[in-house]
Amino acid sequence: MSRVTRWVYSLLEACDVLRAGGLLAFPTETVYGLGADGLDSSAVRRVFAAKERPLDNPLILHVADVESAKAVAVWNAHAARLAVRHWPGPLTLVLWARPDVPTEVRAGLRSVAVRCPQHPLAQALIRGFGRPIAAPSANRAGRPSPTTAEAAWGELAGRIDAVLDGGPCGLGLESTVVDCTGAELRLLRPGAVSAEILGVSTGLPLGDYPASPGTRYRHYAPAVPLYLVADVAAALAQRPGAGLLCTEACARNLGVTAGERIHIWGADAERRAAEFYAALRRLERAPVSCIVAERLPEQGLDAVIMDRLRRASQSLCPGEE
Ligand code: TXA
Ligand code: MG
Repeated sequence: MSRVTRWVYSLLEACDVLRAGGLLAFPTETVYGLGADGLDSSAVRRVFAAKERPLDNPLILHVADVESAKAVAVWNAHAARLAVRHWPGPLTLVLWARPDVPTEVRAGLRSVAVRCPQHPLAQALIRGFGRPIAAPSANRAGRPSPTTAEAAWGELAGRIDAVLDGGPCGLGLESTVVDCTGAELRLLRPGAVSAEILGVSTGLPLGDYPASPGTRYRHYAPAVPLYLVADVAAALAQRPGAGLLCTEACARNLGVTAGERIHIWGADAERRAAEFYAALRRLERAPVSCIVAERLPEQGLDAVIMDRLRRASQSLCPGEE
């Protein structure tokens, strides 16, 4: 599967790619998506092939508004309440699917995930195309999500038709996924809209939320092993040549400063979220033998970063839980 991948700046060109059944990486406010015509089974199959994504992991349909969501999903009271507050935005709703949603999008499930993104280019693209866009994150399966056009290019050049450059994504973490098909809402993936804001927190650590198909697989992992630790000094002593992802306070204790192999987290959680995937990509290329990441507090967006770090981590250092 070798394709000539183009860099596109125009929405007309981007829509043409989708109309021809092609694959287009495009920006959203969370991460870059790998888009295809969401109602065209063969285009959707190409998305799975380009990403090497397991066929049982369904895709999100991106729509421009609630009316378009209603055309592909059975709307209900949960969805109405959440969409009023959070759409357009980084919240994905899982609802019963209408019959014309291709089975490939749903990976054979009876439900479909729908999201109305806020990013102006994503909005304009969906409106210009005039149909829902099926889009997983624009990375090869299991890898960190891309938050820039360059990162999407690095993941998928030669496998897709075009990359639409919209600059860096503002939020930097994937959307929150909520199952709205039952009497109670269920959080399937913590994300940019925090569980606290949604009011669907189960009181369990985020790692214990109920399984969605995608959560069975290892995700977000850089090319070198990642270790999530509380005692950074001990972990570094055990692992020569390690890269480091840590807070300013930790760096001060260790007497180190930011550099090629050391990423120091920004001062607030929004900044940490926005820089997270770019930091993983930079460190994996540094080069380093592995990445040691300091744990963050389990609250707000930091808890979401922790969810991703846990899934990305190879294993824990000896002595870690
Ligand atoms: O922010 C985002 O959500 C990005 C941007 C591009 O919109 N997209 C994204 O897609 O992260 P992806 O495919 O990487 O993650 C979608 C998640 C997966 O965990 C998948 O299993 C889950 O949503 N999902 C999709 N359809 C589902 C369904 N019908 N039922 C349960 N989970 C579903
Ligand atoms: Mg993904």
